Amino acid sequence: MDEPSLLKRLSFLMDAELFGHHKRVAFYSGQIASVFLPEWESDAVLAASVHDIGKIGIPDHIFQKQGPLTEKEWELIRLHPLLSVQILRKVCADKIDPVVIEGVRHHHERWDGSGYPAGLQGEEIPLFARILAAADSFDAMTSFRPYRASLSMAEALEELKKGARTQFAPAVVDIFVRLFSGGVSAKRSGKGGEKGMEDAMRLIKQWADEGEIERIFALLTETADPAAREAAFLQLMRCGAPQVVDNFILLLSSPEAHLRGLAVEALQELGAGYLERLEALLFAEDQDLKILCFNVLSGVKSKKAAIPVRRYLRRCLEGLAAGGKKDAENALAAAVECLGEVGEREDVELLKSLVSLLEGKGEHSYLLFTIKEAEDKLWLDLT
Ligand SMILES: [Fe+2]
Repeated sequence: MDEPSLLKRLSFLMDAELFGHHKRVAFYSGQIASVFLPEWESDAVLAASVHDIGKIGIPDHIFQKQGPLTEKEWELIRLHPLLSVQILRKVCADKIDPVVIEGVRHHHERWDGSGYPAGLQGEEIPLFARILAAADSFDAMTSFRPYRASLSMAEALEELKKGARTQFAPAVVDIFVRLFSGGVSAKRSGKGGEKGMEDAMRLIKQWADEGEIERIFALLTETADPAAREAAFLQLMRCGAPQVVDNFILLLSSPEAHLRGLAVEALQELGAGYLERLEALLFAEDQDLKILCFNVLSGVKSKKAAIPVRRYLRRCLEGLAAGGKKDAENALAAAVECLGEVGEREDVELLKSLVSLLEGKGEHSYLLFTIKEAEDKLWLDLT
């Protein structure tokens, strides 16, 4: 294995989410760079595949922190492009083009000069860095983050357009929109964007008619092509069979953040018919999975979504009252936040009982803050 491949492998070992992020940013960056000049595609892919590897040098607790970061913590995060450059220099400086290193170094610069590490402006920013900045943000917008839903591809493209000339290079945004708004890149399909999308929809529809749900799921989870992914997703939503629900529930445990995000989005749209199966996961050991389930429930448009959340919180209350161990703070906070979204005024009592049990049991400032927010929301909800 050569050194650049070794670094890509290292990013996978560091963190499956970071690897998934690198992989998707590499796909977008490669496609955009090749529009400027086909020979640039492989270098853009390499730069994107390792751009955040310097995060290895930042303490994990900063990335996992709930609530706002301190200025000191931001300073550390802003060091990561320079740490990425140091790693590239040490491991494989003689094997990679300097444009790759400069692209990585400046991938958080902004078109208006307010970015970091150097505050470069407009065309002072190296081209690969301009491409990486747009691809990086696009993936962040379309990927799942705890406590907020991911944007659709169309919504994320609109955000890129809004940021052209302030955050992003206008020429890069234009290419992004041209390549991805119709779905399939003309270059990839070889048939023209819209034609490629139509073909994908027709083929997937045929699979749905033949009951080949697993095949559509395989396409959804394995393709790097955003249009094919969107076509598969739409068809599964239309089909809505129990098998579709089962597969999306399984996908909540995927190591890839964007797939977990898709599962959350899908389950919210699929309604409330599967709530019992989801409720079982609220009592599992996996805290991240619990949080995702609360995330799903927050967006289900049915009063029934509050039932499993109440049951979960009552069980936690009984446990606490009996002197048992508290569930992980962030899982409890996610449940509280979810009840604030889907609950009713009467649920304020449940939250008040939780506050009285937590008082005198150590430091729970984040949780207590979340409870207060949820209470306010429930009081304000007049529907
Ligand atoms: Fe970064």
